[in-house]
Amino acid sequence: MAKKRIVSGMRPTGRMHLGHLHGALYNWKKLQENYDCFYFIADWHALTSEYSDTKIIGESTFDIIIDWISIGLDPEVATFFIQSDIKEHAELHLIYSMITPLAWLERNPTYKEQLQQLTQRDIYTYGFLGYPVLQAADILMYKANGVPVGEDQGPHVEMTREIARRFNHLYKKVFPEPDLLLTPTSKLLGIDRRKMSKSYNNAIFLSDPSDEVDKKVARMITDPQRARRTDPGNPDVCNVFSFHEIYTPSDIVKQIDGDCRTAALGCVDCKKILAENLNKALDPIREKRKELEANLDKVKEIMEQGNAKARSIAQETMTEVREAVKL
Ligand code: TRP
Ligand code: SF4
Repeated sequence: MAKKRIVSGMRPTGRMHLGHLHGALYNWKKLQENYDCFYFIADWHALTSEYSDTKIIGESTFDIIIDWISIGLDPEVATFFIQSDIKEHAELHLIYSMITPLAWLERNPTYKEQLQQLTQRDIYTYGFLGYPVLQAADILMYKANGVPVGEDQGPHVEMTREIARRFNHLYKKVFPEPDLLLTPTSKLLGIDRRKMSKSYNNAIFLSDPSDEVDKKVARMITDPQRARRTDPGNPDVCNVFSFHEIYTPSDIVKQIDGDCRTAALGCVDCKKILAENLNKALDPIREKRKELEANLDKVKEIMEQGNAKARSIAQETMTEVREAVKL
């Protein structure tokens, strides 16, 4: 039986960090085995918030693709493409925009939240309101059965289903209604214990060199109740410990747990152990990244192949769409 298809994208607004790795990328990697995966760079979506300073979009596009391959996403198995290289997305977005009621967009909870949060940018634009319509085009273009995303994207997938239903009802049944494949949220926080994010300046990047990782780990906030070296600590509320649970062998994690609670182990030493193990895990990723950076033509070729595959599907879908709409 043919594998079910999934589509997911990321906005290119900076390099990948550990939040992306444990929040999305390892999940994408796992899905590779059982699904026909389309993973893409949503550069037009990035433009909705970065339109006045677009440099980061072009700069990070290739960095991100290199990060994807370096952590084990396999372009021989999954299809990578760049949204703005497949112009059909713009055409489908336009057609969907004709049939999407304004009320659906205005009541979208993610939209309302972003208007409140992104106060440094003026996002009271036509394009930003239509963000989920473009996202629906990204997904339905490939007739995806599922969309692996975090909880915040749930309303967008729901709207995608509604747009598919409306199109099918108005014209002809062309699109499936894709399922939300909810990504489990990662426990890892940034070094200041807030959500890991480039804009908070608290992220550990996959491309950070090892001395940078040492420094960042040394700055991590631990159990806030543990003021002095002689105070016992509580690993249950310590972000450093959450990292140990992922990066340190389990017998040592057990020992750290005990030694922290009796104050036999201090945070400085505890962090040194973590930095070492984290660097050990990042080393093969750095290795792979170096290899790819020395061979950028190969990366370009991978993108071109992915784009070509995505484009041929997009062209077929658009033929059906024009026919259904009778254009
Ligand atoms: N909106 C998504 C995000 O912010 C990115 C995205 C754009 C996307 N198009 C998509 C995700 C299609 C899944 C499917 O992360
Ligand atoms: Fe956290 Fe380690 Fe310090 Fe305990 S010893 S509070 S686990 S950093």
